Amino acid sequence: MVETYSKNANHNMRRPVVKEEIIDLMRQRQKPVTGALKELENFAQMNNIPVIPHETVSYFRLLMETLQPERILEIGTAIGFSALLMAQYAPKAKITTIDRNPEMIELAKENFARFDERGQITLLEGDAVDILETLTENYDVVFMDSAKSKYIIFLPEVLKRLTVGGLVLIDDVFQGGDVARDIKEVRRGQRTIYKGLQHLFDATLDNPDLTASLLPLGDGLLMIRKKVANVHLPSEIVD
Ligand SMILES: C[S@@+](CC[C@H](N)C(=O)[O-])C[C@H]1O[C@@H](n2cnc3c(N)ncnc32)[C@H](O)[C@@H]1O
Repeated sequence: MVETYSKNANHNMRRPVVKEEIIDLMRQRQKPVTGALKELENFAQMNNIPVIPHETVSYFRLLMETLQPERILEIGTAIGFSALLMAQYAPKAKITTIDRNPEMIELAKENFARFDERGQITLLEGDAVDILETLTENYDVVFMDSAKSKYIIFLPEVLKRLTVGGLVLIDDVFQGGDVARDIKEVRRGQRTIYKGLQHLFDATLDNPDLTASLLPLGDGLLMIRKKVANVHLPSEIVD
């Protein structure tokens, strides 16, 4: 029994940002996962663990096969589903993944021991706030899938560690559609996340040092390409 995620957690997962019938089509018609990934997907569904939904899985599969990145950083491992997916479709990649939740860390360790056949994945335990500044490698792809209000805080450090031409993928940026509303219409408990995501958009979408695109996959995926070595982020947003 997994205790971290209650039945009422992740309410944005039940607030689709595209039509339900399109989501159904994307989930039913796109090639399902099999083997270990199917087992983990079922486990996540049964225990309400928020792993990437099938439309994002399908996109990542294509992206990894096409890019074949050599180094990937993930913030937010959970049970290791997305890390193992990326490992499968980018078999030469070294993947570093970070999580701070002891229950998720235990499950991820078990899953990596069973299914990381090529030994591609390294799990770093702790808060990404502390771990990011200790990293010394550079990455071709960074996947951020953790606390949404912190994305803007992680971004400067992530961009420092990203190769020029590399991609940052940031999950769950639509907040079930709240990001398109006025802050007064957003539930008070959700406003810190709302502000963090608005700052993230302000810092990236129109930044001349980056090329960014918002994709309506799952609860929204922000893709950012780093165009220059030293990316300028507006100091009033990131400080
Ligand atoms: C949405 S789940 C990740 C799902 C996973 N990427 C997948 O699709 O298989 C988010 C995870 O991020 C972790 N997390 C949230 N904030 C974090 C932080 N500041 N540092 C490290 N891990 C964090 C949580 O413990 C949780 O396991």
